[in-house]
Amino acid sequence: MSDLWNSEEVLGLVSAYYEGARVPWVPTREELLDTIMKLASVKPTDIFYDLGCGDGRVALKAAKEGVKKAICVEINPTLIERARESAKVENALDRIEFINEDFFKVNLSNATVIYMYLLTSVNRALRPKLESELKDGTRIVTLDFEIPGWKPVQIIEIALPMRTARLFLYIKGVSDK
Ligand SMILES: C[S@@+](CC[C@H](N)C(=O)[O-])C[C@H]1O[C@@H](n2cnc3c(N)ncnc32)[C@H](O)[C@@H]1O
Repeated sequence: MSDLWNSEEVLGLVSAYYEGARVPWVPTREELLDTIMKLASVKPTDIFYDLGCGDGRVALKAAKEGVKKAICVEINPTLIERARESAKVENALDRIEFINEDFFKVNLSNATVIYMYLLTSVNRALRPKLESELKDGTRIVTLDFEIPGWKPVQIIEIALPMRTARLFLYIKGVSDK
């Protein structure tokens, strides 16, 4: 296979058509991970969810940062197996839970941090669920796509080689009022 075919972006497009997925797999770039953790103020008491966790890189980073539990929710079984393999290699299996399920069907009431790299339309569809299940104070970080109708408490722009990434921080109880 050529390097192009091996690139994460192309693999993402190949997995774009997984049945039931509301968003194709496009991984968060590694160079954003530190900023995501800082923006979410992750700490040892956190229960960190990545909704649509792909290959698990963001959940794995949270686990390595020392959160109490990182929870990787992914509808595509191939991707979640890949995430599990990475966690095994990094000796983090005891700190990550893997849920191969549609994130609309997963109860989020124990979350203290939620990460989402989805689409505006999917964030909009998830909003009622976030409003009814999340505790006040829960931090929600989204990459590139806003939660329509919520007010971000912080927005960070990061220049990448081909584009500028935008990270949004929302806080339940503040952003949704
Ligand atoms: C843009 S990717 C982001 C992957 C990962 N969060 C990251 O940032 O590297 C979106 C992911 O959401 C998954 N996904 C889409 N719809 C889903 C659903 N309804 N339930 C669970 N996962 C879903 C896709 O399979 C894909 O892996």
